[in-house]
Amino acid sequence: MQQKIGFRGLGAYVPERVMTNEDWTRYVDTSDEWIVERTGIHQRRFAGEKETTVDLGMAAARLAMEEAAVQPGELREIIVATDTPEVYNPDTAAYIQHQIGAGEVPAYDLAGSGCAGFLQAVDLACSRVAVRGGPILVLGVEAISKIMSWQDRNTCVLFGDGAGAMVIDQGQDLVEVLAVTTGTDGSKADILGKEIGGTRVPFSKEVAEDNVHNRVVMNGREVFKEAVSRMSAAAHEVLNQVGWSTDDIDLFVPHQANIRILHSVAKSLGFPLEKVYINVQDYGNTGSASVPLALWEARNKGMVPAGSKVLLTAFGAGFHWAAVLLQF
Ligand code: UT7
Repeated sequence: MQQKIGFRGLGAYVPERVMTNEDWTRYVDTSDEWIVERTGIHQRRFAGEKETTVDLGMAAARLAMEEAAVQPGELREIIVATDTPEVYNPDTAAYIQHQIGAGEVPAYDLAGSGCAGFLQAVDLACSRVAVRGGPILVLGVEAISKIMSWQDRNTCVLFGDGAGAMVIDQGQDLVEVLAVTTGTDGSKADILGKEIGGTRVPFSKEVAEDNVHNRVVMNGREVFKEAVSRMSAAAHEVLNQVGWSTDDIDLFVPHQANIRILHSVAKSLGFPLEKVYINVQDYGNTGSASVPLALWEARNKGMVPAGSKVLLTAFGAGFHWAAVLLQF
């Protein structure tokens, strides 16, 4: 029988500290009403003072590994999607490899692809499993509260911290990845990102004095437009790969950026809202952790029984996008 490729373990974690919209009013000129109306976000979780990207990632990874019944020594590779690494260099994957107790296997980050990073990593892991075998641990993890500006109301209220993990493997008894697509439009690289600290604008005393060192640059309206069109197109592409329509899908799990983006994508694809999983109200935009966190919650609530067909899609800085079709 032909081996399937997919995931055999899924885990997620959010830190305990709750940051409400009301809490944000102590830092910036904003209101619960504005945030809820424009984003649908009511609260988000922030990492504790001593909690770092690796801590969040490890918590999700342990759950996924336990569910997959995979021992650390069996891992063939580790891929970590994050824009908020443990340190600037080396990558977060090196720390995860050590802490989880994996062998001296390839471990690397997919950095800089924002909220699309996790699905890009799933794509990569599936092809690596096909060539070299599995299992591969894939993480999407962000602790953005630690390194974003708490003074920029245009961006700070949008984000939350969290982690999601999958163990990708081949075999029969797993959730199959039926189709994947990923893509990039680098002409839109400057509409969303964090520019300070690279070689174009190195970190300096001046940028620190101007208090812009943590600034997230974002053209909100342009990001909104691109997000809707790219996620919709990516979703159509994976459906076309297997000859299905949106009617065949039991649950749609898009990247949780903003309730208005979610509603627009659902509408453009023709999904009734009952088929769309939404948790942005509780966690905000958790970047690369968003899709696995939403999928994990939906699965734990019994929303994807055996046989379910699930469509995942995401977009992120780059501009990157991705979609994945799953058969539970
Ligand atoms: O990975 C990150 C992905 N990013 C996203 O997904 C963001 C996509 N974009 C969006 O979700 C929306 O564009 C936003 C939620 C960011 C903004 O909503 P909008 O309806 O596009 O608002 P706007 O940019 O047109 O701003 C309206 C006003 C502005 O004031 P003025 O210039 O009209 O006086 C902003 O200064 O809202 C102001 N504003 C705020 N007011 C209160 C911006 N942020 C806030 C805030 N509280 N937090």
